[in-house]
Amino acid sequence: MSIKKWQFDATAAENFAAIAEREIPDYHRVIDQCIRLINKLDIQDPKIIDVGSATGATLYALHQAGYTNLYGVDSSAEMLSRSFDQATLIQSEDFPAEHGPFDVIIANWVLHFIPEREAYLQSICDSLASDGVLIITEKVSGSELANDLYYDFKRKNGMTEVQIEEKKQRLEGVLTTFPVDWYFQNLKQHGFQSIDIINANAVFVTFLASQRKTSI
Ligand SMILES: C[S@@+](CC[C@H](N)C(=O)[O-])C[C@H]1O[C@@H](n2cnc3c(N)ncnc32)[C@H](O)[C@@H]1O
Repeated sequence: MSIKKWQFDATAAENFAAIAEREIPDYHRVIDQCIRLINKLDIQDPKIIDVGSATGATLYALHQAGYTNLYGVDSSAEMLSRSFDQATLIQSEDFPAEHGPFDVIIANWVLHFIPEREAYLQSICDSLASDGVLIITEKVSGSELANDLYYDFKRKNGMTEVQIEEKKQRLEGVLTTFPVDWYFQNLKQHGFQSIDIINANAVFVTFLASQRKTSI
């Protein structure tokens, strides 16, 4: 029997908060780090976009922190229909460069779903203000051991081996991982002088890229 590939459909949208809690390590910690980091920037009323904004948890946290110049882009109409809506919400598979430049671009847990990752990253970088910051969180390629550490997180959250295996199969070819080096190389190629890892947990890594050279 063929297994139904993972989609951000109405069911996913309805259950997204629980899915994120159960299956994304450090979900709240990373969102909180984004806010704390933006608080440190010396930019008046920064224009911020959350890529793959889903049901708007990050946009909500930004709004609660006092930010109002907010954009969210997501390819799924079902996710957007359940989103926190005090932001400009855009439904698109492509980065909405026409709304840029942005002072802050957040792309947490989304690029790994985008097959044309290099082109998407190019659009992001082209739309970032020269003194802007980019935050990216990705599931990266890892050893079997590191992946099993990730599955421990799912086990701890009550997922059975059958559920873990089924989700793995549903995500095959939908979520594709690249090695951590790929991100460093690409971000360097895009002129970022400073690339940090600000969070990592098993096979999930959060990168902070800033200080772009204006001419690359
Ligand atoms: C795991 S969720 C992201 C969670 C979200 N960043 C948060 O903080 O709650 C991944 C999201 O990326 C969206 N997505 C997948 N491909 C996309 C694309 N090409 N452009 C925009 N969004 C995309 C999905 O619809 C889904 O809502």
